[in-house]
Amino acid sequence: GRVAVLMGGTSSEREVSLDSGRNVLEALRARGVDAFAVDGIPALLEAIRGGKVDRVFNILHGNKGGGEDGVLQGLCEALQVPYTGSDVLGSALSMDKIRTKQVWLSLGLPTPRYVRLGKGADVHAAARELGLPVIVKPSCEGSSVGVSRVHDDAGLDTAVELAARYPGELLMEQLVVGDELTVAVLADGDAHRALPSIRIVPKGEWYDYNAKYIAEDTQYLCPGLDGADEIEIRRIALAAFVAAGCRGWGRVDVMRDRESGRFYLLEVNTAPGMTSHSLVPKAAREVGVEFEELCWRVLESSLG
Ligand code: DAL
Ligand code: MG
Repeated sequence: GRVAVLMGGTSSEREVSLDSGRNVLEALRARGVDAFAVDGIPALLEAIRGGKVDRVFNILHGNKGGGEDGVLQGLCEALQVPYTGSDVLGSALSMDKIRTKQVWLSLGLPTPRYVRLGKGADVHAAARELGLPVIVKPSCEGSSVGVSRVHDDAGLDTAVELAARYPGELLMEQLVVGDELTVAVLADGDAHRALPSIRIVPKGEWYDYNAKYIAEDTQYLCPGLDGADEIEIRRIALAAFVAAGCRGWGRVDVMRDRESGRFYLLEVNTAPGMTSHSLVPKAAREVGVEFEELCWRVLESSLG
């Protein structure tokens, strides 16, 4: 049947999604899939109404016009069109970093301490509670859009102003000083499995938007860890994915404290990037799954 590769949209990650989407489209076509591009949810709805869509490959990043917040998933459910990735619950929960952390904490899964910054919150008091340095971020964005690392009190207000430009709530999180890691999760029959971790070594201070998509000097080490540490990060990432109600595929971002060696879960990405710089394709390659095969497997795991 015909596969709509859903990309673009109107979220802050539009450009990233178009890049991911073009790669997925090309890969599926190379595998003989009758795939075509659709830009945004309204266009998808049109195509579905026109009887053109048998399945959706969702690579539309972000919320509010993106495809990661459960809205798209609800639409597909209602119209009985199978789609890749997590369902309504897993998508909506994972798009919301604050509530994802609440679920993880309730299950004893480790995540950095945080404060939700409601309207009129005393950000300086929040920073004192957590202890500097902290991260300020929108709860429902991706690709580090609107995220700042804050090392001193003077930087707090600017960080909050930046994060507040994006829809949804804000959070302040304790900065874990150490390594940035990520673990891709793929469907494996009825279960899921964690791929080898990737340790990200940005040239600058941290893995921000520039280090993610623009810089050519970000280093990626895969597997990111050795021995028992590698086993442990895969275990907690898979547990975090399952706890958030996710399915199909995704990517769990993790920090590792340099001093204690402890892991802290940051979030799950339910339509992770598939650009040439992106991480899931690198982890898949490490286990011998090339990009085309990866796209095929994600498509095969779609619901419905
Ligand atoms: N939000 C971006 C696309 C990612 O997680 O890869
Ligand atoms: Mg993200």
